[in-house]
Amino acid sequence: MEKIISIKNLNKSYGAVKAVDNLNLSVDKGEFFGFLGPNGAGKTTTIRILTGMMEPDNGNIEITTLNHGTKSDIHRFLGVIPESRGFYEWMTGEEYLLFFANLYQIEGNAVKKVDELLKKTDLLRSKNKKIGAYSRGMKQRLGLARALINDPKILILDEPTLGLDPQGQEDIKKMLKELNSKGVTIFYSSHILPEVENLCTKVAIIDQGKLVAQGTIQELKDGAKVDTLTEVFLKLTTPNHD
Ligand SMILES: Nc1ncnc2c1ncn2[C@@H]1O[C@H](COP(=O)(O)OP(=O)(O)O)[C@@H](O)[C@H]1O
Ligand SMILES: [Mg+2]
Repeated sequence: MEKIISIKNLNKSYGAVKAVDNLNLSVDKGEFFGFLGPNGAGKTTTIRILTGMMEPDNGNIEITTLNHGTKSDIHRFLGVIPESRGFYEWMTGEEYLLFFANLYQIEGNAVKKVDELLKKTDLLRSKNKKIGAYSRGMKQRLGLARALINDPKILILDEPTLGLDPQGQEDIKKMLKELNSKGVTIFYSSHILPEVENLCTKVAIIDQGKLVAQGTIQELKDGAKVDTLTEVFLKLTTPNHD
């Protein structure tokens, strides 16, 4: 298996709070990788570092063969849905995506590309509506369309279904499964176990900044001698400390 993401001895503190504590993990190409942990475990901090939004105190991140030093190169094949998702609510969905198509200087016909993404995320009928009038689920699908603007090989998603109703969650998961089946590696952060159980090929569990388990879901269940991922999680992590 070819490694696409390697995190080595990663550390990040906010004052006295050690958010990421000597984290080591790797993701193989093509995987649907679940990055799990309770609130405050350090998921968002790790993702901020992974996506170049924040510098670690020390440690190393490699994405494919490129070193993390060359941020502009990485962003060419990375798609991200960050934790806080600000939208320009006065824009229409189409204007928003065209704006990012320009920002990423995507090749070819931007209008056509944006149309394809609107179709893929089921927003074609709402493309001329202002984002301010979009539902939460529509905004989240628009966020996914934005993350796909540069045809990323890796998608990094920070709790992408948070706050969505069951239908909205299913819509996003279906789209992600489809992308993964076409070869996109997915790094999916979540604290909701049932949704990960039939989505991810491999998972890592972090707690208080530390890796506590990594492997296939079956391996983790066998290791903890329990029947569900939720039981694994409850056994290995401390109660929500947010
Ligand atoms: N900007 C910040 N300033 C200070 N502490 C922070 C900041 N961001 C996160 N933290 C703390 O770092 C820890 C990890 O947070 P975070 O990475 O957001 O975890 P998660 O995404 O898993 O909920 C928590 O204890 C959180 O309170
Ligand atoms: Mg978070």
